Amino acid sequence: MTIFTDVDESASTPRDAGSAAQTARRRFPTGFAWGSATSSFQIEGASTADGRSESIWDRFCSQPGTIRDASDGRIACDHYHRYRDDITMMRDLGLTAYRFSIAWPRVVPGGTGEVNPEGLDFYDRLVDALLEAGIEPYLTLYHWDLPQVLEDRGGWPVRATADAFGAYAAAVARRLGDRVSRWSTINEPFVVTHLGYLNGEHAPGRTNLRDALAASHHVLLAHGLAQREIRAVAPAAEVGIVLNFTPVTPVGDSPFALDRQRVIDEWENRWYSDPIAGKGYPEFTVERLGWDRSEVQPGDMELIAAPIDFLGINFYTRKMVGAIDGERTERGGQTAMGWEIHPQALGDLLRSLHTTYSFPKLFVTENGAAMPDDRRADDGRIADVDRIEYLHDHLAQVADAIDDGVPVEGYFAWSLLDNFEWAWGYGPKFGLVEVDADTQVRRPKQSALWYAAVARCGELLPPTVPDPTVPDPTVPDPTAG
Ligand code: FCB
Repeated sequence: MTIFTDVDESASTPRDAGSAAQTARRRFPTGFAWGSATSSFQIEGASTADGRSESIWDRFCSQPGTIRDASDGRIACDHYHRYRDDITMMRDLGLTAYRFSIAWPRVVPGGTGEVNPEGLDFYDRLVDALLEAGIEPYLTLYHWDLPQVLEDRGGWPVRATADAFGAYAAAVARRLGDRVSRWSTINEPFVVTHLGYLNGEHAPGRTNLRDALAASHHVLLAHGLAQREIRAVAPAAEVGIVLNFTPVTPVGDSPFALDRQRVIDEWENRWYSDPIAGKGYPEFTVERLGWDRSEVQPGDMELIAAPIDFLGINFYTRKMVGAIDGERTERGGQTAMGWEIHPQALGDLLRSLHTTYSFPKLFVTENGAAMPDDRRADDGRIADVDRIEYLHDHLAQVADAIDDGVPVEGYFAWSLLDNFEWAWGYGPKFGLVEVDADTQVRRPKQSALWYAAVARCGELLPPTVPDPTVPDPTVPDPTAG
């Protein structure tokens, strides 16, 4: 049976939660982490600075037809040079946590071997600046920017890539382990495997099931190896992994539908969470995919299942699965990505994960929405009430899950900045903060101010645009200079 479902919507949520109309304020626990999330390739730019080598995303972007607007990450949000201002902005917004990733090609440009101190220097400065601003760093070691040189040697389908990742993790831990206490190894192994090696939508653009299966194991193995390295260097650090979940809502009960539902749920959701929890790969789908598991060596599964301190959960939407690909029933609203907005699936997911696995703590490490971001005619602000409602309704689900005893200890809005959305280029706007691509000027949207107000008081405020007559210290004065 599928586990991440919300079949009977009236019965699966204990109370009427998550509606934008809901006005009762909900209080989050003291110490709850209020953060935003980004990733190196999506914001840093400076793609050749200080010894950084080519990543698979640089190479992928240079190939015609891969990125919708033919853009790349060479400049992105120029965060590499503007990180201090970005941190000041986060501080002014009152955020208490920041989830970012390290670019492997900056730290070990050759993929293996020599460590590039200048690459590490950047993250050293970033971490210090965050701590000075009172913002806790949540570090992710891999958010998809594999050094191209490792892809040239076979990429994730090759076991040596996992070994290289372990050594890279150790190098980062040696430099930052004294100041960073929350470490995530890999971001969304499913996307690495499935989009990178199976459907080819992401770098490196390969389309081979055999490669994808091998990659899936090596990415998990890399997590296990990195966890071991980080713990050896920084024993007090908390280590986890970030998985994306797209809960499967079954449509129809024909045997074909049930088969597909199970395979999709197991391949897209449980394939990673089950082994991390010590349950091994889901057998039903292993058989359906015809995987002989020849990559799995003695000791691998134990290493992968070494207890984690927290699970990071990325959630955006659910998936309806029937007997036919793409089958849909009635859907709610959609984001600019065409992703259905269905907040209740997040609450159900959090409860389901806790019941199924009981990881010691959970963070929502990504949640957010691309929206049209129309500018208000009168003052030019972006009154993105649709994004405010999305955040509000999902936070209401988090609050409900906490009330139900699920240990969720923080929430990270995706994303701090409008940025490079992978194969979609710069089209989709996920940021709480607008970035002008020509001038790099940052301008908080109304959702940033709403989220800041929630973070400051620790209560779920009504989903309304903040009062425009109240001066906002983070918005640059258009009449100045
Ligand atoms: C997640 C990725 C993140 C961003 C959001 C929209 O899958 O981790 O980088 O692309 O989706």
